[in-house]
Amino acid sequence: MTPSARTALITGASAGIGATFARHLAADGYQLLLVARRADRLRELATQLTEQHGVRCEVFAADLTDPAAPAAILDYADQQDLDIDVLINNAGLSGKTAFAETEWEALAGEIQLMVTAPTELVRLVVPGMKERGWGRIVNLSSVAAFAPPAASLLYTGIKSYVLNVSQALNMELEPHGIHVTALCPGFTRTEFHDVMGTRDAADHLPRILWQQPEAVVVEGWAAVMKGKPVCVPGVVNKISAAAMKPLPTRLGYLAGKTFNPFKNG
Ligand SMILES: NC(=O)c1ccc[n+]([C@@H]2O[C@H](COP(=O)([O-])OP(=O)(O)OC[C@H]3O[C@@H](n4cnc5c(N)ncnc54)[C@H](OP(=O)(O)O)[C@@H]3O)[C@@H](O)[C@H]2O)c1
Repeated sequence: MTPSARTALITGASAGIGATFARHLAADGYQLLLVARRADRLRELATQLTEQHGVRCEVFAADLTDPAAPAAILDYADQQDLDIDVLINNAGLSGKTAFAETEWEALAGEIQLMVTAPTELVRLVVPGMKERGWGRIVNLSSVAAFAPPAASLLYTGIKSYVLNVSQALNMELEPHGIHVTALCPGFTRTEFHDVMGTRDAADHLPRILWQQPEAVVVEGWAAVMKGKPVCVPGVVNKISAAAMKPLPTRLGYLAGKTFNPFKNG
């Protein structure tokens, strides 16, 4: 381990894109602080990465729907003498039931997990990054942020927030040596669709629409290092984002309504 190694805080590191970022950054020599709810998975990954790459790898189990979680994570980093140089705001999921049939607690949890917690984490790590004159922040948005709103789901609205705010933060922070990138993947082979309960439908989609998480991470990491505020990984996703963006509002609305996942029940 290099004592002067930079440290990356990765949320949602127990699976999918987050675990892939952990592998990628460990291979690059970054120390890691891994966060998710499933501590056993985090510990297993941490042990593996330390053995393979000789990097320090700490684990903090937290439920990011808990408003106290972001401050608790940073307190833990302080106790461990870790300055956060890289933040990968990745933890997320999509709601799976219609708005009016979903308890407020679950909706509020989605907002806390994918809007409030990542925003607070940025606010907590930025002063240290500014002081050191270097920082890299990747916020997981989605190609859905360019798509028409999907009926009932908060997801497209949430990911649009992430896309918009990441650009705003990049404008403010770039002069301080801090790059902020909204990473906007399309269909990526992770546990996301298992959690959402859409695995069967997703498996019927054409293979060309899918990316492996490694491809998403490699392109996303290269983008933040180059200072690109937005990264849509993969050619197919770039084409679909570009095609959806210029849709007139009325047409976008109709498209979203046509693909309403809840219209049959
Ligand atoms: N896969 C796709 O097709 C796709 C496309 C576009 C964007 N994305 C975005 O990419 C990000 C990563 O998703 P993924 O595809 O890698 O999904 P995934 O394989 O299901 O991983 C999601 C990660 O988020 C963590 N997480 C979920 N709820 C959490 C909570 N309450 N507190 C803390 N951690 C929590 C999970 O850990 P625990 O369960 O252990 O807590 C897991 O590590 C998400 O923001 C997602 O919206 C995914």
